[in-house]
Amino acid sequence: MSIVENENQLLENISKLEPIKPVKRNILASHLLHKSLIFIVSFVSIFFIYALSPGQSNHYFKDGGLSYIGLGLYLMIVMTLFTLFLKKFWVSYISSIRHLALMSFLTIFTILFNELTFSFSPYFSFLPAFAMLIRIFTNFQVSLVLSIAVTISSYMLSSNDVTVLAINLFSVVLSSFSLTKIQQRSDLAKAGLTVSFVDSIILVSLKLITGATDLNKLMLDVSLVAASGVFSAIISIGSLPYLESLFGLITSFKLAELTNPNQPLLKQMMIKAPGTYQHSLIVGNLAEAAAEGINADALLTRVGAMYHDIGKMVRPYFFIENQLGIENQHSKISPRLSALVITSHVKEGIELAKEYKLPSIIRDFIPMHHGTSLVAYFYHQAKQTEKSEDVVEAHFRYPGPKPQTKETAILMLADATEAAVRAISKPTVDQIQKTIGKIIKARIDDGQLAEAPLTLVDLEKISNEFLRILQSLYHSRIEYPSEEKIMKDLGRKPQNGNIFK
Ligand SMILES: [Fe+2]
Ligand SMILES: [Fe+2]
Repeated sequence: MSIVENENQLLENISKLEPIKPVKRNILASHLLHKSLIFIVSFVSIFFIYALSPGQSNHYFKDGGLSYIGLGLYLMIVMTLFTLFLKKFWVSYISSIRHLALMSFLTIFTILFNELTFSFSPYFSFLPAFAMLIRIFTNFQVSLVLSIAVTISSYMLSSNDVTVLAINLFSVVLSSFSLTKIQQRSDLAKAGLTVSFVDSIILVSLKLITGATDLNKLMLDVSLVAASGVFSAIISIGSLPYLESLFGLITSFKLAELTNPNQPLLKQMMIKAPGTYQHSLIVGNLAEAAAEGINADALLTRVGAMYHDIGKMVRPYFFIENQLGIENQHSKISPRLSALVITSHVKEGIELAKEYKLPSIIRDFIPMHHGTSLVAYFYHQAKQTEKSEDVVEAHFRYPGPKPQTKETAILMLADATEAAVRAISKPTVDQIQKTIGKIIKARIDDGQLAEAPLTLVDLEKISNEFLRILQSLYHSRIEYPSEEKIMKDLGRKPQNGNIFK
């Protein structure tokens, strides 16, 4: 399409693209309302599960009255403590309605499941699956605290056997612990088997300590404990895609899948726009390192970087990285149309992302990596070729929105840095450092980082990480000063041998 389109076709095709929708901002009042609603729904559901349960907890509520007040007070204090824990240590989860809704849903479901199965056998529980799922969608600490709270509550309200408490506590701790790296679904299967194996041994050892003599009962309990671990892994693997789409969240499994070069969009980009593909990989390395440096989501940033320029596949030859040995297409069209073609790669990218069903969190990287920045080269060219007053700056700007997250802001900086450093023919460390500094300063001055939650300390760390990665990437190309020049600068005579040895 790129080579054959004439000016009119170009204009017509670009004008057909859908405008980008503005970012929906979290209005504080509605955010609070949603959070309170999740709190109330969780409280009421858990209260009624325990109060009306056919399981063992029911015997506490035969006399009604005071037991209900006790249950209400207990739930209120545990839920408030957990909310305060999130607020103090993991604000990102308390401010995410989707994460809160998922935690609430899984907690209610687990308590309901346990109430139904505890009367049959307290050793077959949903608790390992609960801990695994919370671990996958949040982190180790949140999973540990929440699953221990649910385990203790289940035990206190539904069972009197201290061995049950011990086994279930080991289950959830092991489930959270054994999922240290979550990149493949087989990691979950391994975690399930670990839980089954270790829990079975713990149960046998506890029964031996307490002198259990009924061998048949012991065998049944051990089988149920073992089944619980495997069942939890199977349920977790099976429910992940549904939970991801139901709550609009993305797991590291899905992210790892998206980095596979066999993904149709990446494969196409490799063929249609190889220069852009290379650029995306380098930007991915830069952005991932910077995200790690400031404790942002490194894998998410890498995936966002890999897909940020997919829109360039529509007209690859209009972008410098794909122009090797090909006539510059911009020489045939006006600067105004050039700017339109360049900025339209964002809209084309969003359309492709929708067509190939990229998750919305990845799609966000496409418009945000340019924010509302100016296509300065063609803006200045237009000013020279047209009447200056006819050239409106806004027509030469990307449609936005500006980066809203740390991850998208990092991508904006990595993208611009990679392009600028690539343009230096013989880069020196000093030049690379100055280029990074200039790019960050220019983006701040242009207000592009105004809506992203980055601090100055973060920006310093990002810039250091960029320098570190670029130095190693361009090592062979980096121009080091000659020994003679260094000695001259130092005011000394050259010595024998190379000082870089
Ligand atoms: Fe781009
Ligand atoms: Fe880019």
